[in-house]
Amino acid sequence: MTKDTILEVQKQFEEALAGAKDKLSLEEVKNTFLGRKGKVAGLFSLMGEIPPEARKEVGKMLNELKIDLQAQLDKKISEFSTDKTEKKWVDYTLPGYSMPQGSRHPLTQAVDDMLSIFHRLGFDIAYGPEVETDWFNFESLNFPPDHPARDMQDTFYTEGGGVLRTHTSPVQTRYMSKHQPPIRIVAPGRVFRNEAISARSYCLFHQIEGLYVDKDITFADLKGTIELFCRMYYGKDVKIKFRTSFFPFTEPSAEIDVSCFLCKGKGCRVCKHTGWLEIMGCGMVDPNVLKAVNIDPEIYSGFAFGLGVERMVMMRLGINDIRILFENDVEFLRQF
Ligand code: DAH
Repeated sequence: MTKDTILEVQKQFEEALAGAKDKLSLEEVKNTFLGRKGKVAGLFSLMGEIPPEARKEVGKMLNELKIDLQAQLDKKISEFSTDKTEKKWVDYTLPGYSMPQGSRHPLTQAVDDMLSIFHRLGFDIAYGPEVETDWFNFESLNFPPDHPARDMQDTFYTEGGGVLRTHTSPVQTRYMSKHQPPIRIVAPGRVFRNEAISARSYCLFHQIEGLYVDKDITFADLKGTIELFCRMYYGKDVKIKFRTSFFPFTEPSAEIDVSCFLCKGKGCRVCKHTGWLEIMGCGMVDPNVLKAVNIDPEIYSGFAFGLGVERMVMMRLGINDIRILFENDVEFLRQF
C-alpha cells in the first residue's frame, strides 16, 4: 500500500458519492467504503505490510481518510433528509387525540354554590393566609395561652413560629383589624389539623366562615340569616335546630342541625336515624374578640358562624370516606 492507493480510494469514494441519487445508493456507498468489510477497512488490514518506520505516517493518513469520508457521507445524508421533494405519508385514518372535558371538583362546586347564596344575602368574600400567627388563630379569638380549648384543635406548627390555621375564624379578626363596621363577610378556605387520617377525618379540609358586625345585631339576625341560607341551599322545607354549645370566640354559642335532606327527618342511614344533621357552629361574637381588634363592644355587636364543607358534600353525595375527596381519582371526579 502506498500513498497513491489511499488517494485512489478517496477518488473512487468521491465519484461514487457524487453518483448517488437516493438514500438507497448512499447506503451502498457507505457499505462499500466504510462498512466492516469495506475498502477503508481493507486498507487498515494492510498496515502489517508497512515498514515500521513508515507506519506512523500511513496510519495517520488512513485515520484522516476515514474521518473525511465519514464527514462527506454525513453531509450528503443530511442533504437528502431535508429534501422537500420526498413524499411524506400521513395516515388520515388514525384516531385523533381526544381532549377530555374537565369539570370542577365537587368541593369547589359546593363552596361556589354556598358563596353565591351568601353573596345574594349581601355578604362580601374575604380571604386570609393559610399560615397564620398564633395571635390571629388563637389569641385574638379569645383562646388565652394554655387554655385547654386549644387542645380541641390539633395544631401544625411551622418552623418560623407560625401555625397552619386550624379554622377560618382568624379571617374574622384579620378583617376586623382593617375594616370598621358595618362588616358582612364570608371567608372560604382550607384549614389544617394534625389528626389521625381515617374515613372520617383528614389533615386538611375546607370551611366557610361568616361574620356580621354592626349596631344592634342580635341572635335573631343570626337565626334569620342561617335559616334563609339553609332554605336556599337545602330547599324550602328544611327545618333547623339550634343546640347550645361552646366556642371561645362566641357567647352565647350554638351548633346548628338541619333536618336530614334525604329522609326529610324520618330517620335514615345518613342521619344515623336521628332525622338531623349537624352542619355548623355559630354564636354572638364575644366582646373580647371585638376588643382585640379595637371595635367597641358597647357600640357594636355581631354574629359569626363556621361550617365544614366536606361534611356537607359527603352527606349530599352519599360518600362515607373523606379521603376520596383528596385523592383526585379521575374515575371519581369524572362523575361531576
Ligand atoms: N371555628 C370553629 C371550628 O373550627 C367553627 C366555628 C364555630 C366558627 C362558631 C364560628 C363560630 O365563627 O361562631 O370548630
